[in-house]
Amino acid sequence: MCGIIGHVGTGDAIETLLSGLENLEYRGYDSAGVAVQNGAGIEVRKRSGKVSELKASVGNPGLEGRIGIGHTRWSTHGPPTDENAHPHTDSTTDVAVVHNGIIENYADLKSRLSERGHEFTSDTDTEVIPHLIQHYLEEGYGNESAFRHAIDALEGSYAVAAMLSGEHAIYAARQGSPLVVGIDDGEYFLASDVPAFLEYTDTVVYLEDGDVAIVRPDGVEFTNLDGRPVSRPPETVDWDPEQTGKGEYDHFMLKEIHEQPTSLAQTIEGRIQPDNASIDLEGFEPGSFDGIDTVQLVACGTSYHAALFGSLALNRAGIPARALLANEYSVCSPPVRDGTLVVAVSQSGETADTLSALRAADAEGARTLTVTNVVGSTAARVADESICIRAGPEIGVAATKTFSSQAVILALLAHRLAADASDGTPFDIESFLPGLAALPDRIDGLLASSNADRIARRYVDAESYFFIGRGLGFPVALEGALKFKEITYEHAEGFASGELKHGPLALVTPETPVFPVFTGEEDEKTLKNTEEAATRGAPVVAVCPDDHRATELADAHLEIPETEPSLAALLANVQLQLVSYHAADLLDRPIDKPRNLAKSVTVE
Ligand code: M6R
Repeated sequence: MCGIIGHVGTGDAIETLLSGLENLEYRGYDSAGVAVQNGAGIEVRKRSGKVSELKASVGNPGLEGRIGIGHTRWSTHGPPTDENAHPHTDSTTDVAVVHNGIIENYADLKSRLSERGHEFTSDTDTEVIPHLIQHYLEEGYGNESAFRHAIDALEGSYAVAAMLSGEHAIYAARQGSPLVVGIDDGEYFLASDVPAFLEYTDTVVYLEDGDVAIVRPDGVEFTNLDGRPVSRPPETVDWDPEQTGKGEYDHFMLKEIHEQPTSLAQTIEGRIQPDNASIDLEGFEPGSFDGIDTVQLVACGTSYHAALFGSLALNRAGIPARALLANEYSVCSPPVRDGTLVVAVSQSGETADTLSALRAADAEGARTLTVTNVVGSTAARVADESICIRAGPEIGVAATKTFSSQAVILALLAHRLAADASDGTPFDIESFLPGLAALPDRIDGLLASSNADRIARRYVDAESYFFIGRGLGFPVALEGALKFKEITYEHAEGFASGELKHGPLALVTPETPVFPVFTGEEDEKTLKNTEEAATRGAPVVAVCPDDHRATELADAHLEIPETEPSLAALLANVQLQLVSYHAADLLDRPIDKPRNLAKSVTVE
C-alpha cells in the first residue's frame, strides 16, 4: 500500500506535504515524491528511499507552491527506483498523479496509449493515469472532464489525486482504496489516512467508492463519477495529534505497547458493567443477534490471531465459530447459511484480502460485521455493521495494542452473541468482567516490572525461537512468533503446545529457546510439552505467574500477573511483544518499518 497527501491552501504546501508524508510513512517507505504548482507549471521531486531523502532534495534548490500532492510508496509494480516513485506525469508534465491501489487493465491501456505515441518512463501501473488524462485533454475535453474520463477507463482499485498545470485544484477519486479530505478554515487536505493531517484539522470527510472530489481554494465539491453531487457530511475524529507522535519513546512500537493500559481502557469504556454483569456494545442491543447460530471470522496476520482468539471465545460460549485466513476464504470458505455471521477483523479496515473475503461473504448472503480501529474504513462501510476497537492510531507496522483491543472486543462479542443465541451457553461473565476491568492496571504493572529486555539480551544470538501455547495461549504463541520474525528478521515459529511432538521437536536444540505460554488451562499438559523440549536441550523461557510450577523447570521466566484464564494469554502477549521489541532493538533493526512490509496491505 502507499500513502497519498494533498494540500490546497493559502500557505506554502511543501511543509504540509512533507510532514504528511512522514506521518504516512508507515503505509509504505521505499520511495517518495511531491509535485507542486509553482506558478510556472508543475514541478516534481521524487526519490527512492525514505521521506528524509526526499526532504533533502526538496530544499535543494527550494521547491515552492500553495497547491501540491505527495506520495510515499510500497512497490507493487516495478522496483523502488527514482523513476517508479510517484508523482507520475504525462510527457509534457502538464498532469501529475499520485495513486494507491492497482490498475488491473494498465497493460491494455499502456499499449493503446503507446500506439498513439505516448512514451512511458516507469514500470508502474500508475503512469497510465496522467497519460490518459493528457489523451483526453488532447481530444479537446476540459480539465474536469478529462479527469473523469480517465478515471472511468480504469479497472481495479485506486485512490487517485491529480493536478493539472495552471489550475488551482486537486482532482481526486476513490474506488477500493481509502481517501479522506480534511477541512480547516480555507485550508484543505487530502490523504489516505487521517494522521497525515491531524495536526492541522480534525474535521474530515471520507470519500466513498465511486466518489470524485475536487478540492479548490474556495471549497470542496463531492460528486459521483458522472458529476452528480453527492452529500458527504463532515465528521469530527476524536484522535489526539499527540497520539500520532513518538513522544518519549524511541519507536512507535514501544510507545504503542506502553499505550495498552490506556487503549484497553478506551476499548471497554462504557461497554462493560461488572457490577450488574452486563455488556453494552453500542448498536447491538439484546436480541440484535437473534437467529445467528454460526460465526466465521476472516482476517490476516495479527488480526487473524485475534480472530482465532475470538473463535475460541465464541466456541466456549456455545457458538460454533471458525477463524479463516481472509486470503484463503475464496478457496476454502465453509458454507454460508441463514444464521451465519461473518466477522471481518482488521485494524486498518483496508486490507485487500480481508475486504475481498468480506465482499464474498456478503455476496453469499451472510450478515457481515467488521471489527476495526478505523471508523470510516472501507471494511466498516462494506459490512452491514461495524464495531470500533477504539485503540487509537497505531503507526508501527507491527500491530501491538490493536491485537489486545481486537481480542477483547471479540470476547465481548462472544458474550453478546451467546446471550442472544437460543442454545448459547452463558459463560463465566461474573468473573470475566471484573477481570477485564482490571486488565489495564494489570498490564500497567507488567510493563513497569517486565524483564523482557534482559531475556532478549540473553537469547539474542539464538538460531531460532519457538513459541507454544494451548487454548487461548495458542493464538498468542502464533502472534509471539509473528512479531518476533517480523521485526527481528530471525526465524521464529508458533505452535500449539501439543503439536511440538508431532514434528517441530526435531528442530529443537540448545540453540532454539522455547517460550511456553501458561494460561491456567491444562497447564500440566503444556508443562509436559515444555519438558519434552527441555530434555532435548532447549532453553525454556516460561511465560507464567511467579509461583507457577513451570518456573522450576525453566531457565528464565517472564512473569504474568494472576488473572482469569480467559485473559492470561493477553498479558502473556504483552511480555512477548516486549521480548521481540528488545531483541530487534539489540539487532539494530528498523523496528517501526521492517523491510518489505507495510502497515496495511491493499493488494491481494
Ligand atoms: O489492518 P489489518 O489488521 O487488516 O492488517 C492485517 C495484517 O496485515 C497485519 O495484522 C500484519 O500482520 C501486522 N502488521 C503484523 O504485525
